[in-house]
Amino acid sequence: MPHILSIDQGTTSSRAILFDARMRIVATAQEEFTQHYPASGWVEHDASDLWSTTAGTCREVIERAGIPASDIVAIGITNQRETTLVWDAKTGQPIGRAIVWQDRRTAALCQELRDAGHADMVTEKTGLLLDPYFSATKLKWILDNTDGARERARRGEILFGTVDSFLIWKLTGGAAHVTDATNAARTMLYNISEGRWDDDILKLFDIPAEMLPEVRDCTGEFGRTRADLFGREIPILGVAGDQQAATVGQACFKPGMFKSTYGTGCFALLNTGETRVASRNRLLTTIAYQFDGKPTYALEGSIFIAGAVVQWLRDGLKIIREAKETQPLAEAADPGQGVILVPAFTGLGAPYWNAECRGAVFGLTRNSGPAELARAALESVGFQTRDLLEAMKADWEGNGGNVLRVDGGMSVSDWAMQFLSDIIGSPVDRPEVLETTALGAAWLAGVTAGVYPEQEEFARGWALEHRFEPSIDEATRAAKYAAWKRAVAATMAAA
Ligand code: G3P
Repeated sequence: MPHILSIDQGTTSSRAILFDARMRIVATAQEEFTQHYPASGWVEHDASDLWSTTAGTCREVIERAGIPASDIVAIGITNQRETTLVWDAKTGQPIGRAIVWQDRRTAALCQELRDAGHADMVTEKTGLLLDPYFSATKLKWILDNTDGARERARRGEILFGTVDSFLIWKLTGGAAHVTDATNAARTMLYNISEGRWDDDILKLFDIPAEMLPEVRDCTGEFGRTRADLFGREIPILGVAGDQQAATVGQACFKPGMFKSTYGTGCFALLNTGETRVASRNRLLTTIAYQFDGKPTYALEGSIFIAGAVVQWLRDGLKIIREAKETQPLAEAADPGQGVILVPAFTGLGAPYWNAECRGAVFGLTRNSGPAELARAALESVGFQTRDLLEAMKADWEGNGGNVLRVDGGMSVSDWAMQFLSDIIGSPVDRPEVLETTALGAAWLAGVTAGVYPEQEEFARGWALEHRFEPSIDEATRAAKYAAWKRAVAATMAAA
């Protein structure tokens, strides 16, 4: 019986999920690893942790499923995007720690480059905004701050990659230095119209082309695992960044379809088909997936704090012990109180891109307590999603549905999803399979292996678990959203 092993290397944990020939989950394994915060605004991962937790969870899931490795016909990889690694081309030894997507250490450099007038060129070529979020300035930082690194890179002695590249290099024992177009599209070094690393941008950041991986489609052979890892060589046949894999897993294959994934942050992607849409509302243009050398583009809105706001209720305020307590608490809140929480803990992402502002709470009274804060926390995720969808609607003139497909941890909360539907004024669809990121990566590998159905049949198999319909009137919706917009404006003004 053929199985597909899906690797999901995320920001806080590595996971391995085994799917059977009918795309059903057979077993999962997950391991968290340490986050390093060496200075304010800095976030790092130990590359050896990324590798050991990935290899460990893969072995564990195979053992748990009780199947022979010979049943695994292919591996799919999906990963936290933008996180930047440099390693020795011979030994695989990392040069320092990985700089994580959330890391803001290059904010001043980005500002300098914007002041020097480079922003439009960067956006025109890469679809991204000149922000520390992406890999380019992180890689430049590593090259600038490690003795002899740039020269070694020029000689091909050290290599750059996002997490997918690093894992493939390790899995194949250094035989493949490759990435896929969706991960390349997040580096801010890749020209998404021309489908190649961009010479002008490499020059701007002084990055030697010799250290860059080869860019491939999301489907195809990326290499074979070392035989000693799982007892036999297994081909890696599918790769995509996690938000793009979720777009695939949600079968958002038609222009106009969109999804939003609620993890630590929230990432909404709108499929714009073969057309690369330039955002006028500070969204990102990116590659949703690439098959047969042809990219399908997307508009993306990224917000940095979604599930993390629930963690804050738990670990910061200590008003809940477990995430699942948030919903009953929110239900118990006094509906007459309009408490608004702007969770700008690390600034605001799309469409505001304000790195300096910090979180704020509005409308507190003497009766406000944990319940009102829990409700405000869940509502903040709905409000922020509406901000993204407003920007998408303004940018996108094509046809499309108005149904938002959701997944990720917070999507299990009925209360949060009902509020989301109420505030965006559109239906919200929650699928049966909430592991859409892992499913997307598994499907990419499985379709390449000839085990899983082709795109259209896969899309027909997408199954709805629950549809949330808007349940408040337009005037109430407009008043609530206007209050949120006022709160955001005040938060930014206070920065
Ligand atoms: O762009 C960052 C994103 O890919 C991280 O996703 O799920 O690891 O928080 P996640």
